[in-house]
Amino acid sequence: MNIAANPVIEADQTVYLKDYQKPSYLVDSIHLDIQVYDDHSLVKSKLVMQRQAAGDLVLLGRDLELQSITLNGKTLTNEQYQLDAEQLVIANTPDLVELNIEVLIHPESNTQLEGLYQAADNLYVTQNEPEGFRKITFYPDRPDVLSVFTTRVEADKKFPVLLANGNLIEAGEAGEGRHYTVWQDPTKKPSYLFACVIGDLAVLKDRYTTSEGSDVALEIYAEAKDIPKCHIAMEALKHSMRWDEEHYGRPYDLDNYMIVATSAFNMGAMENKGLNIFNTSCVLADEEYTTDAAIMRVQSVIAHEYFHNWTGNRITCRDWFQLCLKEGLTVFRDQSFSEDLQSAAVQRIDDVAVLKSHQFPEDSGPLSHPPRPDHFVEINNFYTATVYEKGAEINRMMATLLGKEKFRQGTDEYFKRHDGQAVTVEDWVAALSAGSGVDLSAFLIWYNQPGTPKLQAQGEYDAANQSYRLSLKQSLKAHAKYPNLKAVPIPVALALFDAETGEQLVLNAEALFENGVKDGVYLFDQNEASIEFTGLKAAPVVSLLRSFSAPVNLEFNYSDEQLAFLLQYETNGFNQWQAAQTLLERILLNGHNAQTYLDAIQKTLPFVIAKDPLLASRLFDVPTEGYLGSRIDQDYNPIVLNEAREALLNTLARELGGFVKETYLSLDPIAQKEFSQAMGVRALKNIMLSLLARQGDSEVFDLAYEQYQNTGNMSERLGALKVLVWNDSPQAQEVLQDFYTRFKDEALSLDQWFMIQAAHPKATAESIAYLTSHADYDLAVPNRIRSVSGGLNANPVNTWSFGVQHFIDLAKYLDEKNPIVGSRLLQVLSRWYTLAEPQRSQVKAELEALKSQVKSKNVSETLNSMLSI
Ligand code: BES
Ligand code: ZN
Repeated sequence: MNIAANPVIEADQTVYLKDYQKPSYLVDSIHLDIQVYDDHSLVKSKLVMQRQAAGDLVLLGRDLELQSITLNGKTLTNEQYQLDAEQLVIANTPDLVELNIEVLIHPESNTQLEGLYQAADNLYVTQNEPEGFRKITFYPDRPDVLSVFTTRVEADKKFPVLLANGNLIEAGEAGEGRHYTVWQDPTKKPSYLFACVIGDLAVLKDRYTTSEGSDVALEIYAEAKDIPKCHIAMEALKHSMRWDEEHYGRPYDLDNYMIVATSAFNMGAMENKGLNIFNTSCVLADEEYTTDAAIMRVQSVIAHEYFHNWTGNRITCRDWFQLCLKEGLTVFRDQSFSEDLQSAAVQRIDDVAVLKSHQFPEDSGPLSHPPRPDHFVEINNFYTATVYEKGAEINRMMATLLGKEKFRQGTDEYFKRHDGQAVTVEDWVAALSAGSGVDLSAFLIWYNQPGTPKLQAQGEYDAANQSYRLSLKQSLKAHAKYPNLKAVPIPVALALFDAETGEQLVLNAEALFENGVKDGVYLFDQNEASIEFTGLKAAPVVSLLRSFSAPVNLEFNYSDEQLAFLLQYETNGFNQWQAAQTLLERILLNGHNAQTYLDAIQKTLPFVIAKDPLLASRLFDVPTEGYLGSRIDQDYNPIVLNEAREALLNTLARELGGFVKETYLSLDPIAQKEFSQAMGVRALKNIMLSLLARQGDSEVFDLAYEQYQNTGNMSERLGALKVLVWNDSPQAQEVLQDFYTRFKDEALSLDQWFMIQAAHPKATAESIAYLTSHADYDLAVPNRIRSVSGGLNANPVNTWSFGVQHFIDLAKYLDEKNPIVGSRLLQVLSRWYTLAEPQRSQVKAELEALKSQVKSKNVSETLNSMLSI
């Protein structure tokens, strides 16, 4: 029976973790032959398979035109298999099977950027995680089927570069102006790590010698004009390789490591074995064309994808529910790497800022799910902040608790036990426990339940006993789908300070041991507990959750003065920043007076600027309107928040007075030796420039214009451009035109041009329409869509007025063209239910109306979840 694509949408397409079953067949080897032609591609495969469990032989496939299939040498007629839109099933197969399959596919018209697709006139690439391989050929496309891949790639010679995973074993002529290469990857891998590239690209080459003495060829492929922008990525790659040897004992295992850059990519980058494919935005880095933030991101993404070689590729996931096994661990590893690259405190600040502004809101709304979900409709919808960022935090908590040495013993055990396997989160925690000798099984609770725990703390000083009692309590908001929420283990890193002198107090070791506080970390794993500190002659100031030792919402009744004290005296840069954030949030959301913050920041700044200018710049982080909005659960009015924040920024500008211009004029990025110092100086300078504009300084636009013109650095140029454009200065149109002329052939720089205009605080439906109908706007390029949508969403007042239509229209359009990106963009509206009326009902009605107009699992699942609150 040959069932054509089933037009009836199945009632329940939900997949459950509890239904996991081993595949009936394993694949010993696969030979692929991919032939690319202008109007189609032909894919031939030979699979050698062995039965390992009862059941039919199931091959997954989507949008494939089946040409022929033979089983152990015999061609199958269409009565001998069942084919529907998702799979090909053969019943009654022998235990040893050799399948030969030919299919025809259309990468040239693949707009979803999944499977094999044409990314540009001169480039074809693949993206197979999580389920893209089934769009290349029929295969048991699941991560627990590991096989040895041999790949032949054939194309016209107008594409000189033909790449696949592993070692090049053959190359030659294929007639009619065509050529081919054959690649063999010696390591077994799941299909989601398969990659091939067909294109006309230039290459930057380098070499690396591993700790084991083997020589690795390193290659980064990009457009010829972009090769000079690949050096930072290359250095970061070598640095990552060394770092993984030194910190985890993990050397690289192949003879080559290739990275290919493409501007048509849904995500940031992909860790395909030995052949990473990167969004240009995550590999190209050059002061002239990209911002400092982008340069830092390039280094961390390079590290991230490299680190996957061990955490993800050599040891992979049993099923997609375990995604946080590889992503959470690899994010933790890339964050640690980046902490070594720049001010560790600032790296932590930036990582926590992402966690609090994306993961916390996600986890308190309709899209909330455990780091390891237990069901999904479309797995692409679960590459979330919760899986990634909260997943990373769980690993960080275990690492904090174990300390360096034991954590390393734990990871060593993990690599020893599971190299070459597809495993689960339980396997990871068990190996870490066994290797370190510390039972960490309670951390599994974190993986299995949703929501951000609330940590309530209270301190009481007893003068008679010279003691201080810290009481802790944890709780989670009830969740309809997860009724049995349990207490989680929370490592609380803490310090006490002398309220008079600002000195950190040395805690009595014996008392600490009694209290379970080791190395300044108390493991709080009950619903309630308390710790007593003794020998204190006066009430101390306590600093909790240093370096954000756990992903929880802390409630502690600090006075504003105590927060000001911590801002000034805490030696942990992260907690200094956190104290400033808490003060600012109180001013903005609870109407506290700004004076305490202003006094403290004025006292502290000169010292911090001298020591760590980047940290100093972060102390000016006034929480964004988006973040503040996410802290409000009902009757949210974006306009009210916008006004409060504007008022605060104006006060700040006024109160800082002459300090602003003095600081602006005294800072010199060129004089800095280190990139991270220069980056800090640039960040501070830009903050001062925008404060100058708020002061109404008569010279500010001239200063900004000068900064814009006299720099070769993108962060400086953009900082000035923002001030000129967002304040509607007389020079605004001229510099926008100038920027366009300079960078019109540099896609990533042009993205910034779109972004800045979309992020204008006074953007309108018309100004956004001007951008989206611009000749350089392209709905086929996710980066360009994100630059306008992301810019627009920088101002929640705009997002929640004319922006609603923008995001709904995008979701509708992308539903068919690129559902992965469509689903992500729609999530911008996920907190609609917190809005004050009448906005709430208006947005709800628009979302309801969208339901009948979308078909993809991606967008429908997101929309249904968003409306299920
Ligand atoms: N494995 C992912 C890429 C991916 C995710 C591909 C989902 C397809 C679907 C990769 O390792 C990754 O996590 N990339 C991140 C960047 C990283 C630094 C967190 C990305 O693409 O955003
Ligand atoms: Zn990853």
